[in-house]
Parts: sequence; C-alpha cells; structure tokens
Amino acid sequence: MMKASSLFAPIAKRLEGKVAVITGGASGIGASTARLFVKHGAKVIIADIQDELGHCVCEDIGMEDQSISYVHCDVSSETDVQNAVDTAVAKHGKLDIMYNNAGISGNLDPSILSVDREDFNRVFDVNVYGAFLGAKHAARVMIPAKKGSILFTSSMSSVVSGYGPHAYTAAKHAVVGLTKNLCVELGKFGIRVNCISPYCVTTPLLRKTPGLEDEKRAEEVFSMGANLKGAMLEAEDIAEAALYLGSDESKYMSGLNLLVDGGYSTTNTALGDAFKTLVS
Ligand SMILES: NC(=O)c1ccc[n+]([C@@H]2O[C@H](COP(=O)([O-])OP(=O)(O)OC[C@H]3O[C@@H](n4cnc5c(N)ncnc54)[C@H](O)[C@@H]3O)[C@@H](O)[C@H]2O)c1
Repeated sequence: MMKASSLFAPIAKRLEGKVAVITGGASGIGASTARLFVKHGAKVIIADIQDELGHCVCEDIGMEDQSISYVHCDVSSETDVQNAVDTAVAKHGKLDIMYNNAGISGNLDPSILSVDREDFNRVFDVNVYGAFLGAKHAARVMIPAKKGSILFTSSMSSVVSGYGPHAYTAAKHAVVGLTKNLCVELGKFGIRVNCISPYCVTTPLLRKTPGLEDEKRAEEVFSMGANLKGAMLEAEDIAEAALYLGSDESKYMSGLNLLVDGGYSTTNTALGDAFKTLVS
C-alpha cells in the first residue's frame, strides 16, 4: 500500500537546474511552455517581439528568484537571436534547452494566386530562418558543453497537406528537414534535436483565421475535425511534449517529429465517406 506521505510528496521537478530560451514565449504555446518549464525548476528566458505581453507573462508566472525573464528578440534578426542566447548564458551561466517556437501563419488565403513574394519571404524568414538562427546560436554554446536539447515547433501541416497556406506548409516541412539534418550534425556533441507538430490549438495565431476569431467557435470546429474525440488539444499539451523532449527523460530521442495530433495525420476518411454515399 502507498504510504500517506508519498501521496502528498511535491511533484518531481523534471527540469531542475536547466536553463531554457523559448522564442515566441509571450503568447500561446510558448507562454504555456514557459510556465510549465518554470514549474519544473528551469530558468527561462522568453524571447519575443511582443514586449509588453512578454513582460506580463513573466510577471504573471511571478517568480521572485529571477527564474523567468524577457528579452526582445525578432528571430529573423541574427543579432537579436545572438543576444537572446548570450543573455541566457550571462544570467544563468549556460543554455540547456533552446525551444525555437516563434511562428507566423502569413497570408491565410489558400490560393497560390494570392501569395506574393513579400509574404512568402516573411513566413520563411520567421518560421525557417528564425528557427535556424536559434539552433545556430544554441549550438554555439552547446557544442563546447557537449550537451543540450534543441526543439522546434513545426505543425501537422508538415505531414498533412491541403490544410495550411502554401508558404506556411512549405516552411513547416523545412523545419522538419532542419530538425533531421541538425540531429545528424549535432549528435556527436551530445546535442539532441527534435520538433513537435501540433494539431489545432486555439491560440491568437489560429484565431486570425476568418470565422475562427471566437474561441468557443474555433474549439467547436477543431473538435469537429479531430480524430480523437472527448479531449481538446490545448497549449499545455504541447508544453508537456516540450517538457519531455527538453528533459533528460528523453535522453536518447533525437531527430523526431513528434505529432501531437490525436492521430489526425493517420486518417483520411474521404474514401470511406464516399463509400457511405453508396448505402445512404
Ligand atoms: N496554434 C496552432 O494550432 C498551431 C498548430 C501547429 C503549429 N503551431 C506553431 O506553434 C508555434 C506557436 O504558435 P502559437 O499557436 O502559440 O501562436 P501565438 O501567435 O500565440 O504565438 C506565436 C508567438 O510568436 C511570436 N513571434 C512572431 N513573430 C516573431 C518574430 N519574428 N520573432 C519573435 N517572436 C515572434 C509572437 O509574438 C507570438 O508571441 C508557431 O510556430 C506555430 O506555427 C501552432
């Protein structure tokens, strides 16, 4: 029988002593991850362009021991990314986890005819080059330390086609390519590289989609389209995946595109639905 004392034991801190930078940490998935990482004992630097919101998230998480702080960082600027990583090292002496999570959707019009060069470039600048820069500057300090965990947020658009805009979908495929290539180069230094690909989460990014501005309506739509019923994907679920991949519990995982999609990417019911029309 379990002892009463163990029932009330404090939760194991799975990131005790670790230092993390989270890009896009002022909102949505990044903010939830920052909260969970701090709860598990990590020192966290939020790197984002939404300065006011970023400071609010830090205040809200509210650790008095400087466990969380904010740095302005446009991930498409190499000096900003370099500064974010250097800030982590200057403040906390090292960097263990670099979560390259910042992302934008770009033009949401699904037609190829509506995409212009400026929009395409911006999506790639933030979602791919920004993620690459995060990995590059993390590697700069992780290689001498001979350890580290580099994470990216890709998307289920990296495996399911026809759902996201073209530039976004291509960029998220590129993030998976980057994950796999970096895993090969950095493995010999003890650095693990993984990415997480979520199904739909009702963050500000997705609520920019026309018709999905209302959170409740958005949740209804995502739930209707989901494969797994009876559960709603939340930013906290992606944070849990990042916690696992950032912690030593995943010490032999590298090169993985972890789909957190309730099995959505394994389904294609179009033919089954067409068959159903034969009997209806
Ligand atoms: N919400 C979803 O359903 C979903 C699904 C799949 C993948 N994703 C990915 O998850 C990641 C996080 O998105 P989210 O859903 O939490 O959206 P969000 O809009 O809530 O958060 C994105 C954050 O990235 C920041 N950001 C944007 N451009 C930046 C830049 N140039 N430099 C630094 N920060 C920048 C924003 O300020 C914001 O705080 C993105 O990469 C997104 O593509 C989201």
